[in-house]
Amino acid sequence: MRRILVTSALPYSNGAIHLGHLLEHIQTDIWTRYQKLRGNECYYVCAEDTHGTATMLSARKQKISPEELVEQARIEHVEDFTAFGIQYDEYYTTHSSENEEIATLIYTKLQEQGTIFQRTIEQLYDPEEKCFLADRYVKGICPKCGAPDQPGDNCDACGATYSATDLLDPRSELSNAVPIIKTTTHYFFDLPQFEEFLKEWTTSGTVQTEVSNKLQEWLDGSLKPWDITRDAPYFGFRIPNSENKYFYVWLDAPIGYMASFKHWCNHSNIDFDDFWSKDSKCELHHFIGKDIINFHALFWPAVLNCAGFRTPSAVHVHGMVTVNGEKMSKSRGTFINATTFRKHFEPETLRYYYAARLSPTMADIDINFDDFVTRINSELVGKLVNIPSRCANFLRKSFNNILDSKLVDRTLFGEFAGVQPQIQDCYEQGNTRQVVRIVMGLADRVNQYLTEVAPWKLARIPGKEAEVLQICTLAINLYRTLCVYLKPIVPKLVERSEEFFGGTKLQWDDVNQPLLDHRLRDFTPLLQRIEMNQVEDMLNASKQTKSSTNEPSTTMIDITDFEKIDLRVAAVLEASLVKGADKLLELVLSIDGNKRTVFAGICEAYNPNDLVGRKVVVVANLKPRTMRFGVSEGMVLAAGPGGKDIFIVSPDDGAEEGMTVR
Ligand code: MSP
Ligand code: ZN
Repeated sequence: MRRILVTSALPYSNGAIHLGHLLEHIQTDIWTRYQKLRGNECYYVCAEDTHGTATMLSARKQKISPEELVEQARIEHVEDFTAFGIQYDEYYTTHSSENEEIATLIYTKLQEQGTIFQRTIEQLYDPEEKCFLADRYVKGICPKCGAPDQPGDNCDACGATYSATDLLDPRSELSNAVPIIKTTTHYFFDLPQFEEFLKEWTTSGTVQTEVSNKLQEWLDGSLKPWDITRDAPYFGFRIPNSENKYFYVWLDAPIGYMASFKHWCNHSNIDFDDFWSKDSKCELHHFIGKDIINFHALFWPAVLNCAGFRTPSAVHVHGMVTVNGEKMSKSRGTFINATTFRKHFEPETLRYYYAARLSPTMADIDINFDDFVTRINSELVGKLVNIPSRCANFLRKSFNNILDSKLVDRTLFGEFAGVQPQIQDCYEQGNTRQVVRIVMGLADRVNQYLTEVAPWKLARIPGKEAEVLQICTLAINLYRTLCVYLKPIVPKLVERSEEFFGGTKLQWDDVNQPLLDHRLRDFTPLLQRIEMNQVEDMLNASKQTKSSTNEPSTTMIDITDFEKIDLRVAAVLEASLVKGADKLLELVLSIDGNKRTVFAGICEAYNPNDLVGRKVVVVANLKPRTMRFGVSEGMVLAAGPGGKDIFIVSPDDGAEEGMTVR
């Protein structure tokens, strides 16, 4: 018996569970359920990834403590995962005493090994918010290609990497203030010391070949010391013997795997050290997405090795979920949360669809909803569930639900059992796509068989009762074998089938033991067909949940308030880009012959030339505002969340410049 500890990457607390997370947790859950079904001792742990600036800011905005935010998120996340049948042994949090203890212990070991050093660095600092700015909280002009609105680490336009202090015209995303450069002392983990160790580790079968190849780029002298420090204010663990310095979230996050398991050990009978000591005989498997490879296959094994713990047996890397060929997008409604999905579809359908697509590569997985609907209806409903529903009626009506005492075709039953070793290999390697292919091929054979021998015809011929019973007994037994094979993928569907078979839980070895002389329970439909309009409803619902600010305001104003606003039709005389501002257009408007300059944040949605000559609606009596680029004397009305999705309100053709809008 193998002893195995399995993890999925810890979801960040400040966001909802979406279809991307679900790919990973479904993949991990299938693998874990398979191991348990094979009789291995296997535990699956996960947790909330709680620390960092994002949690702190988001809690501040909601006027709650970070701890409250984290606990709320934990409850919601667990609810989602549970609905999708994900069965953790423990789902904990990184903001725990266990995690602080182990993180401190590991840090102390790293120090003792001489791998921690201090260095004074320069960082951008927000003088208004009084805090250092993480790279993604700074935006500015790319020093390489000049693209505006780029984050502080690398340019989305040209791909250049640089440090935040190199950005031209940088601004703080928190306050829009111009950041200043400030020095601070940080602790670094000396990763280059582990180059040799990592070369060996990454090429010893711990990661897929494509992952290993990718990692070698870093392992030819390109490793850099890793900054593991963040300055206060920060939501996290304080670094021992430091003042106002905290562990960077990515230091204590993977340690959260250990802490979660430790918590589980503390209230069960498992020995933590068996699994984590340097000479452990147990296995450790991490499942992650390709965006976080360096954290799991460079920093993490180096830290574990240095601190005297075992390193992972394997890191299984999957690709990214895209929808209809594109990155999930809030404005297109394709950023689909787990909660939204399960309101419209039975979660089991997603488990099946992902399993049918997953293989041991890190290729991205595109969800095409036509394909999704087709596969569920033609495979899961049309092929698989079809088998018992084609037989159940005869068994109930004529045979009191009791199966025959022998199999009419023992060879066929044996053939189905014979593919088991192949299925095992596929599960072990994470090739569930192949599992599904094999099982659906077998389901085709059962259906062909039923079509050929047509029990519904025989049932009408007197004297053929025995044959009908033989046929149905065989088909039900073949179906039962397929249920065993699919149990890790669609556990609830199989559970409903287990009810039908009589209530006993299916075991992996049951493929060798037919059910004979056995009484079934009454058959109830196992799964409904799905329709394309359910997809449309779900996509519409996703558009609506993207931001609560889209909801109509419930604050009432009276007519005198409204009359204070002087809304006018204006004509656009000139429109031009604003140098150094990436969202703004400078518009020169004419209202009844008077010229006004107005800055509008519509640059991503409109080409300036297309606006000249158009009529727009402006708030004409807005107090002039001094902006960094000049004075704005009014506001142009537009609808939409922003970015590319913003639409100017324009009056119908008959409206004339200067008219009051009411
Ligand atoms: N908190 C870190 C992980 C810390 S592990 C010690 C993190 N969180 S995350 O919420 O952004 O992502 C969690 C996991 O979900 C990652 O493995 C990530 O690759 C995966 N996915 C997030 N979006 C995804 C898709 N669109 N598609 C597939 N997986 C994706 O990273
Ligand atoms: Zn660039």
